[in-house]
Amino acid sequence: MKELSYLNKYLFKYKYRLLLGLLFIIISNVFAIIPAQIVRRAINLVEENISLFKAYGGFDLQEMIYSIFAGSILVYGVAILVLALLKGIFTFLTRQTIIVVSRLIEYDLKNEIYAHYQQLPMSFYRRQNTGDLMARISEDVSRVRMYLGPGIMYGLNLFTLFAILIPYMFSVNVRLTLYTLIPLPILSISIYYVNNIINRQSEEIQRSLSGLSTYVQEAFSGIRVLKSFIREKDSVQNFSVASDDYKDKSIRLERVNALFFPLIMALVGLSSVITIFIGGVEVIKGAISPGVIAEFIIYVNMLTWPVTSLGWITSIIQRAAASQKRINEFLLTKNDIVSEENLVREIKGDVTLENVSFVYADSGIKALDRISFSVKAGESIAIVGTTGSGKSTIANIIPRLLDVTSGQILIDDMNVKQYNLHNLRSQIGYVPQDVFLFSETVYNNIAFGSIKLSEDQVEEAAYHADLKNTIQNFPDGFATRVGERGVTLSGGQKQRVSIARAIVRDPKILILDDCLSAVDTKTENTILNSLKDIMQKRTTIIVSHRVSSAKLADKIIVLDDGKIVEQGTNESLLELNGVYKELYDKQLQADEIESQP
Ligand SMILES: Nc1ncnc2c1ncn2[C@@H]1O[C@H](COP(=O)(O)OP(=O)(O)O)[C@@H](O)[C@H]1O
Ligand SMILES: [Mg+2]
Repeated sequence: MKELSYLNKYLFKYKYRLLLGLLFIIISNVFAIIPAQIVRRAINLVEENISLFKAYGGFDLQEMIYSIFAGSILVYGVAILVLALLKGIFTFLTRQTIIVVSRLIEYDLKNEIYAHYQQLPMSFYRRQNTGDLMARISEDVSRVRMYLGPGIMYGLNLFTLFAILIPYMFSVNVRLTLYTLIPLPILSISIYYVNNIINRQSEEIQRSLSGLSTYVQEAFSGIRVLKSFIREKDSVQNFSVASDDYKDKSIRLERVNALFFPLIMALVGLSSVITIFIGGVEVIKGAISPGVIAEFIIYVNMLTWPVTSLGWITSIIQRAAASQKRINEFLLTKNDIVSEENLVREIKGDVTLENVSFVYADSGIKALDRISFSVKAGESIAIVGTTGSGKSTIANIIPRLLDVTSGQILIDDMNVKQYNLHNLRSQIGYVPQDVFLFSETVYNNIAFGSIKLSEDQVEEAAYHADLKNTIQNFPDGFATRVGERGVTLSGGQKQRVSIARAIVRDPKILILDDCLSAVDTKTENTILNSLKDIMQKRTTIIVSHRVSSAKLADKIIVLDDGKIVEQGTNESLLELNGVYKELYDKQLQADEIESQP
């Protein structure tokens, strides 16, 4: 319950609707109780007048007694009908207030969670798997909603009905009331247990189903491998095994479900039998009128559902609390990458790293070891090195996707931590190593939601990223959709769209993280040459495992195992005859082999 108190702020937000809902519940319960009393009167009326009617057998008066009598019964009947209608209307209104509130809170909570996801740093995402993040915003929120909607509604209903009905029943007859109510707690407790079994089994089914869909999904995406290795038969076999498991579990759940209703019916029936028996005894003693028996049977039926729901509500609340706990856990995770000074200013583009070290906290790998270098505004620097030497880590720490473990990064002689994050990142164009395109048009992938960009700017960026010809050959030009994650584009095309996306914003610092790895050296050269204009106006950091990308840069840094091993220009490094030269020769050879006819 402690966990669920997080939701109180939302309940408070919608307090008026909830109060209105409570009012509607009370009214609808009153309208449910009155008909039972009318039934009692009607039966008593029949019982009292039937002897009178018989006594006047053969007299004219009998006709008159009959018409008065039938008239009253008709009035009672109509009253019951009208009241049932009114109860219906107020039940409708109850759902329209309380269930609607639960939907509104669900919406608010989802937005809150999503907004929080967006704030959290990259380090958070590395620790979590996507499935789990999705589950929190969908499944967990739905469970919480069950508490906010049906949970609260049936809870309030139970409470008000008991508060109105039980005292009234006791006022009519204590003994009868006590006996009538005996089976109800048994009902409630057994529902609670049965419901827990149902929930447990449903979860097992859910797991089985998600295993099944993961299997199918994988089989579809790997269909090419599957077919070429002629594994179709095994695939079908495996599917039917998983499917069998799902079937068995579902059938087992149906068995429990099938027991559920007869159990309720039996207990309700038991209550009715007790009511009739004890009621009969009381009538004989003269303590109550016969109509009371009918009235009480109606009450028993009225109490059944709320009492049943008590067990149900309890397990809803337990599940909601468990879900809210998972939601809270991460809502309380704070973003540790925040601005110290919130400095907003236009940067020139000097970048300096001073003794920067970086350790990946989760793996303990020291990716950068006391790195120092600096690059003046408008200059370019290349960072080369083998895979795993720490290049991407450098690309990540400059826009503060990661924060340095020690040392500092200065932009225009000001620590990056002092800049307002939005301000800082909006002036840095970062092309990540792993390109990600959204299933949108080429145009939208480049403009990426920015309304400040004109069509000309987008076209110019595409031109500089050497995309112009490619796009012209697309069926719909810029309006061509790229499919999920850009499946309809080649690796090199995707990388160029990604570059265009970074440069269209006219950043002061451009970071290209191995973003030309998917093209051959010749294309790489063409793209870098078309980027020349762009590079002149800003600081460019070219990260690459290929020496060929580095040649253009004013300065080159060679990284190995997180340390700077060499630095200089292309010429000076070749003269040095060290690591750079070695890489250069190796890659040159590879290129020659590649370009052999
Ligand atoms: N998310 C991560 N968690 C833990 N270790 C990482 C992570 N990313 C990279 N590393 C490690 O940090 C080192 C440097 O990686 P990276 O900067 O990606 O190298 P490069 O870009 O030069 O290939 C590698 O040893 C790599 O295994
Ligand atoms: Mg890398």
